[in-house]
Amino acid sequence: MSTESQVQLFDEDVVAKAQELIARYPQSRSALLPMLHLVQSVQGYVSQEGVDFCARQLDLSEAEVGAVVTFYTMYKRRPCGEHLVSVCTNTLCAALGGDAIYKKLSEHLGVGHEEVAGEPGEQGSIMLEHAECLAACDLAPVLQVNYEYYDRQTTESAVELVDALRRGEKPAPTRGAPLTDFKGAERQLAGFFPEDEQIYRSEVDGPSQAVETLRGAQLAAERGWTAPVAEDAPLPEVEKK
Ligand code: FES
Repeated sequence: MSTESQVQLFDEDVVAKAQELIARYPQSRSALLPMLHLVQSVQGYVSQEGVDFCARQLDLSEAEVGAVVTFYTMYKRRPCGEHLVSVCTNTLCAALGGDAIYKKLSEHLGVGHEEVAGEPGEQGSIMLEHAECLAACDLAPVLQVNYEYYDRQTTESAVELVDALRRGEKPAPTRGAPLTDFKGAERQLAGFFPEDEQIYRSEVDGPSQAVETLRGAQLAAERGWTAPVAEDAPLPEVEKK
């Protein structure tokens, strides 16, 4: 792709942000991961033009950039929807209903893994995907929308959620930051936050933990347990009930 076309796609603002990312690292190539998120915040995926853009900005080969893009599942090679719905189908979630949720959503939306219900650019369009463990096993089964958590889902609640997204609504996640869209989430993953950052950060400071997640720490505090100080230190005895 010509440099001129890239300039149209990745305008001055994007180039400035790319330079800002590069300046954050001792070596420019270290900026590749956030820069790919920046590309996704512009295009909704990483196109060949996006690969070229990163390669030029970072003085890497297209093959080097391509190898990274195809390694990580967070980088999409085809246009994502307004939202990305990730259903955990790893062991614990799967056993507690994650497989059933994925199957139901797949049927309900009429799409398979990394396929989009609706036109990728339109409001309410959804890319569905299987996800590996989302690190919220204590709240299983879970799914994410643009990487925000919706805990303890059922097939019914998951269908209600995607129906709301299809209508253009943005139901509040169970915890963490308010829901944006895929491109907005990608902008944040690149390290750029909205202009009204102060307001945004106060919203981020909302509920971000669950009772179940803190239970282990609470038990340890109540029972005076601390981490072993050396590799061969004995573990504290667990009180049997
Ligand atoms: S298995 Fe689903 S969050 Fe861990």
